[in-house]
Amino acid sequence: MIVFADAIISWQKRHGRHDLPWQNTSDPYAIWVSEIMLQQTQVGAVIGYYGKFMQRFPNIHILASATQEDVLQQWSGLGYYSRARNLYSAAQKIMDSFHGRFPNDFDDILSLPGIGRSTAAAISTFAFNQPMPILDGNVKRVFARYFLIEGWPSLPNIEKSMWQIAVRENPVGLNKAENAVAYTQGLMDLGATVCTRSQPKCHICPIKKNCQAHLKNQTNLLPTPKPRKTLPERNTTMLIYMNANEVMLEKRASKGIWGGLWSFPEVDSAPINGEILPKFTHTFTHFKLHIEPVLIKSSHQDNMPNTLWITLDEAIESAIPTPVRNILQSLNSKN
Ligand code: ADE
Repeated sequence: MIVFADAIISWQKRHGRHDLPWQNTSDPYAIWVSEIMLQQTQVGAVIGYYGKFMQRFPNIHILASATQEDVLQQWSGLGYYSRARNLYSAAQKIMDSFHGRFPNDFDDILSLPGIGRSTAAAISTFAFNQPMPILDGNVKRVFARYFLIEGWPSLPNIEKSMWQIAVRENPVGLNKAENAVAYTQGLMDLGATVCTRSQPKCHICPIKKNCQAHLKNQTNLLPTPKPRKTLPERNTTMLIYMNANEVMLEKRASKGIWGGLWSFPEVDSAPINGEILPKFTHTFTHFKLHIEPVLIKSSHQDNMPNTLWITLDEAIESAIPTPVRNILQSLNSKN
């Protein structure tokens, strides 16, 4: 069924995005880094990080010979830090198992840490002109509406039938590299700019004539949202030891939330000698964390295991999670 792909391809050529920083290159490294950053993260949030990351780590060799700390530092603020750890370990694997060259075989690409089927397909298509079907969050939304597929798209059986559609619609028959790229990019672009989650712009959609959700007035009901349990909540107290303009940071264990990042030591409740700062909440995908920061002025610098003393300015530039950066910035403006 080439009708769907045809419409996406010609729309992408006229109305899609052509000047994103990771387009107009076939460097698999540049494309790989972009696809990892774009997992669960929108283009607007990625662009600034991408440029800086590519400047700091312009190729696999430089990435592989950096430290994980350097890589996490460049990733600091983007979230989902397992992506950065996987990117780094994939770079090592490419050096060890693929002679330092990004592999072009689909199964080899898929074997790299942090790369699932859809990311492998996007890299395969964009970098090697090997058209493989993709199925990311944007594409799931387009399919759910166009084909009227009910049920949360990440349920295993729904996802399975969406993959079958992705394979069926993928225009391998056209077999023109340029079209494969336009189709894949077009699906992403349509999902991100027209077939948006709320208030989709159906009036400018190239496939509205056959879109089942549009025809049945159900775009607002599809895709079916994730069945929401209320998120579990946790409390933590962060201890901010401060001496003049220096604070103490502690390196977190490599596993678990914010693995390998620098943060404040945490305890269950505020010690009596501290100044309690305003509480705030940080929401992760799986739980909410209520954070109570406590400022402890100390005139000497205790050295606890895995800690260092560092100026506020340097701390803000380190590999730290977003809530810690927010606390540091508020201390900096008080100073
Ligand atoms: N999301 C995932 N990959 C993308 C890409 N190459 N361009 C825009 N958005 C994307």
